[in-house]
Amino acid sequence: MSIYILGIESSCDDTSAAIICDNKLCSNVISTQQVHVNYGGVVPELASREHQKNIIPVVGTALKNAGIEMSELSAIAFTRGPGLLGSLMVGVSFAKGLSLASGIPLIGVNHLHGHILSHTIIEDESLYREQEFPFLCLLISGGHTMLIKVSAYLDYEILGQTIDDAAGEAFDKCAKVLGLPYPGGPYIDRMSLIGDENKFVFGKPKIPAFDFSFSGLKTSFLYKIRDNIKLDADFIEKNKDHLAASLQKTIIDILTDKVIDASEKTGIKNIVISGGVSANKGLRNRMTLLAEKHNWNLSLPALKFTADNAAMIAIVAYHKYKLKLFENADVMPAAKIDFYDI
Ligand code: KG4
Ligand code: ZN
Repeated sequence: MSIYILGIESSCDDTSAAIICDNKLCSNVISTQQVHVNYGGVVPELASREHQKNIIPVVGTALKNAGIEMSELSAIAFTRGPGLLGSLMVGVSFAKGLSLASGIPLIGVNHLHGHILSHTIIEDESLYREQEFPFLCLLISGGHTMLIKVSAYLDYEILGQTIDDAAGEAFDKCAKVLGLPYPGGPYIDRMSLIGDENKFVFGKPKIPAFDFSFSGLKTSFLYKIRDNIKLDADFIEKNKDHLAASLQKTIIDILTDKVIDASEKTGIKNIVISGGVSANKGLRNRMTLLAEKHNWNLSLPALKFTADNAAMIAIVAYHKYKLKLFENADVMPAAKIDFYDI
């Protein structure tokens, strides 16, 4: 019998609901909040209010698009953390209410585990291929930069992570220096297509093992601009695209050097990238070239599953459902949930 799961994601500024039938996607609705654009970042209070407004229509549309009745659901899944507490609270409370009213089991999902499995969401059955384990996952988002060994669907081991800023933060903070809107990652990505990536050189960190660091790069970027602006007030304007391209190249170098090293040291050639930064075109191209060179079996998530979405929450819940890993009605959101908390 097929397993139907409703996934709900509300950890930050996207209200999303998805329905999957086993590991196949039936619908995925995302409402991205626009109220934050003028604030240079996500305003937690506004985010939770927007989730309150959006959650009923978003879940209703996901059910309608999938052609599914509530009563047909096998489980209701929600993001338990990490994220903004007020935002998480909306999704958790809504899922709990639905579960209490219908008697359908509840499944809590760690948001990061959703990103890790986002490349396994099947939209077109003809493209289905069995997932190979173990795989190495480079999880890169606005809040996280991690290298994870995945031995089975719910079996994860952190090999390394950032000791300061996340890769997405490096993109966004440097973009801000260039006067770009938040989040700046996608703008840097687009400008890199026309800029010269070798025009400027920024220092790369020397961090042992598989850990990452981006705070030095941010400082190096800032100093380069500060020093040059003293000589030419129009320095940024004249060099915007080159600065973006050189910054992006450095971030990609830092990320991919660790993946190459981890693959060599562990002998794992199944490689996956995930999280918002995995949408980056330069990174995707570089990973594709590296996969050919190193004989990797590379999986890139579809672009629409790189950012926060409920389909990735539902796919994790599908694997938890098979193990009957349900929550009690007193489950609470956890803004700083432990990575190993499944
Ligand atoms: O996974 P995500 O949507 O949210 C978090 O859980 O953090 O990631 C958001 C991050 C932001 O820092 C954003 O600038 C970055 O992903 N991002 C990109 C691109 N698209 C989104 N960074 C570089 N290039 C992109 N194309
Ligand atoms: Zn995320």
